[in-house]
Amino acid sequence: MDNGTNANSTARARKIVIAIDGPAGSGKSTLASLLARRYCYTNIETGAMYRALALKAIENGVSVDDGNALAALAGQSNIELVPNSEGNRVLVDGKDVTDLVRSQDITDAASKVSVHPLVREWMVQRQREIGAGGGIVMEGRDIGTKVFPDAEVKIFLDAAPEIRGTRRFLQSPAADAPEASVVAELQARDQRDRTRANSPLVPATDAVLIDSTYLTLDQVLSRAVEIIDARLQANERKHG
Ligand code: C5P
Repeated sequence: MDNGTNANSTARARKIVIAIDGPAGSGKSTLASLLARRYCYTNIETGAMYRALALKAIENGVSVDDGNALAALAGQSNIELVPNSEGNRVLVDGKDVTDLVRSQDITDAASKVSVHPLVREWMVQRQREIGAGGGIVMEGRDIGTKVFPDAEVKIFLDAAPEIRGTRRFLQSPAADAPEASVVAELQARDQRDRTRANSPLVPATDAVLIDSTYLTLDQVLSRAVEIIDARLQANERKHG
């Protein structure tokens, strides 16, 4: 799959926004981080921002059901993502909370925090600022629909729910949770993401769908690279 000439010419091309959306366990983070490395782009995991706010809410006794209070808390918070080779380090008000935000409690709380329109407005604004210069692979649930509706590449990555549940179970740090409960939690989160009134998880009309149910990681990566290279080469032809 690797093609040095292609990679060189695409690396020179104008830096674009690559939006990757999809449900939990579809492999977005892994794909986004491999793509960022390949194109020398910055990888932004937007879910980590919702997780960071959920953690701060819990630490400050703010209810995950109180949208106004959560938005006010977000406004007083400095949530930073620091991209590195393994993903994003997450800082809240300067404190590294990367490992804390991956716990099951925070995963569940982040999903609840994310339904509130005022919270989403704040997040979308911050994410647009982060991605304003292009050269980013941003992954989440609403990147191609809301955050960057004009993104030049939009990929919607999906997989059958039972496959996503099993993948999540295998990489879960809470190895003591039984597989059935990891799968059930993932499906509950999915349902909340897909049915919320504000920015539900849906593919953008112009997104390319990749179903990874029967694909290896290498196959998913090849397909994504094909899509991105085609776009970068079309840009080169257009802009010289
Ligand atoms: O992607 P991750 O699992 O870290 O996201 C945590 C939660 O944040 C998701 O369950 C989802 O509810 C929410 N989220 C969102 N919009 C995004 C990213 C994440 O609503 N762009």
